[in-house]
Amino acid sequence: MYIYKAAVIGSGVMGAGIAQVISYAGIPVILKDINQEAVDFGLKTVRKTYQGRVDKGKMTASDLTAKMALVTGAVDYSGFSDVDLVIEAVFEDLVLKQKLFSELATVCPEGTIFASNTSSLPISAIAAATRKPDKVIGMHFFNPAPVMKLVEVISGLATSQETVDDIITFSEGLRKIPIRVQECAGFLVNRILMPYLNEAAIALQEGAATSKEMDEAAVGFGLPMGPFTLTDMIGIDVAAKVADILYDAYGPRMAPAQILAALCQAGRFGSKAGAGFYEYTEGSKIPLTAVIQGIQEKKQTAFSINRLVMPMINEAVFALQEGVATASDIDIAMMAGIGFPQDKGGPLHYADQIGVDVVLSELQRLTQELGDRFWPAPLLKRMVMGGYTGVKTGKGFFTY
Ligand code: CAA
Repeated sequence: MYIYKAAVIGSGVMGAGIAQVISYAGIPVILKDINQEAVDFGLKTVRKTYQGRVDKGKMTASDLTAKMALVTGAVDYSGFSDVDLVIEAVFEDLVLKQKLFSELATVCPEGTIFASNTSSLPISAIAAATRKPDKVIGMHFFNPAPVMKLVEVISGLATSQETVDDIITFSEGLRKIPIRVQECAGFLVNRILMPYLNEAAIALQEGAATSKEMDEAAVGFGLPMGPFTLTDMIGIDVAAKVADILYDAYGPRMAPAQILAALCQAGRFGSKAGAGFYEYTEGSKIPLTAVIQGIQEKKQTAFSINRLVMPMINEAVFALQEGVATASDIDIAMMAGIGFPQDKGGPLHYADQIGVDVVLSELQRLTQELGDRFWPAPLLKRMVMGGYTGVKTGKGFFTY
């Protein structure tokens, strides 16, 4: 099915970013939220992205006008009677999403595909609230949506192959890289990203290094931004919610750093709130040092870049052994979704480069030093015992 017209529900930063991407591909899109103020914010955000391109000479002012004409703001469902695809990007609340999807079924045509941009809620559970679960799918964009190339495509238990094919074709039409991911908490990229962000937060609590030092180390490794800048950009509230969902699904190795909840309590929700791990505007928020002092661990631990990178590799291996995605899709997703350094080829290619045996022993060392959250994925041990140690033996996650 060709998507002639789409709608995005939720006109926050993600919803607006998705609407911009759709309109940029020449497809009309409704941007809906519950009140005019929210809709206006979304429209302003879309315009700002286009204006940035005009300012850089990458687009003309008349192109901007033409693209903006494709985006219609709405506070109700008028205009939904001929939409082929609805993407929801509302707050991560299962009941809210279920209510929304069952409401949508009454205003959209029979064949409309309902996609959720949820970052971690089960698609099957969202679909369960609708009459046509075969038409419900996960379509997970990454922030900033206009820039990040990845779209994770997640089937629920009842999603039809036709729906999957339509969304893959549509995503390619948006000039994105769609990667099919099996349904699991955090899907693929958040599941791998979060242990890295969380470990940085734990290291901060333990006084291992400052946020600036750790951000610099991550950028030195080749990532586009460090874990604290990134968590501030994602939103500490969003990160904390994802961390809770992952903890609930995977247990102790994903236990959220206390500082995430503490920052939320202090109203430091990240760059959107003017303060998170860093300050963005001067204000009366409780200072970061006071937040840290409130939860500071007695023991002081050491920082190394491996402390951040190894949990990412380990979780990528867990995801691989569970069949969430193939090794090459995992690597592509991490490069396209969070900018994992291209010269390292993704976490699994990187493991092959430095040696799967080195990854295993480093994880074992970190387990001894810092705790069981670093416990190596069983596949790593099997690979090392079988001689699959990476580039040096010609076989690892890939063959050489
Ligand atoms: N909206 C639109 N465009 C933006 C943008 C935004 N918010 N931020 C940057 N851009 C554009 C810029 O205009 C620029 O465009 P051109 O190349 O056309 O000039 C381009 O992106 C590069 O921007 P900059 O030169 O200003 O800065 P940069 O090179 O440092 O890139 C970045 C900025 C793209 C954000 C980069 O730092 C990056 O890739 N960071 C990692 C982001 C990431 O990991 N995202 C995933 C988060 S996890 C998630 O989203 C999932 C979830 O469910 C929580």
